[in-house]
Amino acid sequence: MNFLSGIWWSLALVLFWAAPYMGAVGSSRVMCDNVPGLVSRQRQLCRRHPEAMLSIGRGVAAWTAECQHQFRQHRWNCNASLFVPGSRESAFVHAISSAGVVFAITRACSQGELKSCSCDPRKKGSAKDSKGLFDWGGCSDNVDYGVRFARAFVDAKERKGKDARALMNLHNNRAGRKAVKRFLKQECKCHGVSGSCTLRTCWLAMADFRKTGDYLWKKYNGAIQVVMNQDGTGFTVANKKFKKPTKNDLVYFESSPDYCIRDRDVGSLGTAGRVCNQSSRGMDSCEVMCCGRGYDTSRVSRMTKCECKFHWCCAVRCQDCLEVVDIHTCKAPKSAGWISRT
Ligand SMILES: *[C@@H]1O[C@H](CO)[C@@H](O)[C@H](O)[C@H]1NC(C)=O
Ligand SMILES: *[C@@H]1O[C@H](CO)[C@@H](O)[C@H](O)[C@H]1NC(C)=O
Repeated sequence: MNFLSGIWWSLALVLFWAAPYMGAVGSSRVMCDNVPGLVSRQRQLCRRHPEAMLSIGRGVAAWTAECQHQFRQHRWNCNASLFVPGSRESAFVHAISSAGVVFAITRACSQGELKSCSCDPRKKGSAKDSKGLFDWGGCSDNVDYGVRFARAFVDAKERKGKDARALMNLHNNRAGRKAVKRFLKQECKCHGVSGSCTLRTCWLAMADFRKTGDYLWKKYNGAIQVVMNQDGTGFTVANKKFKKPTKNDLVYFESSPDYCIRDRDVGSLGTAGRVCNQSSRGMDSCEVMCCGRGYDTSRVSRMTKCECKFHWCCAVRCQDCLEVVDIHTCKAPKSAGWISRT
């Protein structure tokens, strides 16, 4: 069982609780000492940058939601407190939570919430791109600061050990940080006579976190199984037929369970009670989601917005309609409950 996500949750909760007291002298010490599971380097960073911890705490819900969105049609539903260490799912959780820290810290820098950073100070003066000269202006997201902070804070935990799993986690954490940087894009505003665009002001902005989530989801599906080198300094691809992982790829050691049945030992909640899609042929189909156990169907009626009309100007008015839909949920295995291994 793993405890990584336990730290994220306790960070989110303790920080939420501590936020109102942040102004008080010595409170950051109290707060940081109360987050369970931090290693000493993380506690140091927490005391030195208490406001950054608040930003991370707020970010936890955002990347948890993103993870659950990506896995919505999957047997494993991104319950981040349940996965096999060293598995493909563990690789994804490491990558998306590191990416989430980069995103949260960078955003906080731009919004002036942190003392230690601000908009990217190097994006000043004029520069040139394919469309010609432009001036840096506004606030460029300081993603390099976010990456440095995330590396120091998130990786601190893995730097303690030098085993295969620590190396794997460091690799996936880095892949997550790099993913956010990939979606940094230049936005510009035109100036000049009647929008002639003779003058441009540009800045770099992070894309919506969904882009990072979609990208890491693809990397999850193409994750590469690796084995530790003889000398223990790195890893190589487990099956020589597959390509070597790059820094952008996710890597894993352990095969995943099928997540069909509830088994605490392998970190599986099982799919009993999960909603499946009767007309789908994919991972969310009732056959795949329910692992061949079959499903129950219940008819529910719910209110939806319908017959929406646009009124000049500018409102959309809708009717309330009653909609009747069939919901399919996976049956439990014949012997319900957790499997026990005694
Ligand atoms: C995740 O799993 C734990 C352990 O079974 C459970 O208590 C918790 O409610 C689950 N969370 C979600 C979001 O499903
Ligand atoms: C179910 O699957 C079908 C086919 O893939 C898709 O068109 C439909 O939107 C899905 N329904 C839901 C509720 O996701």
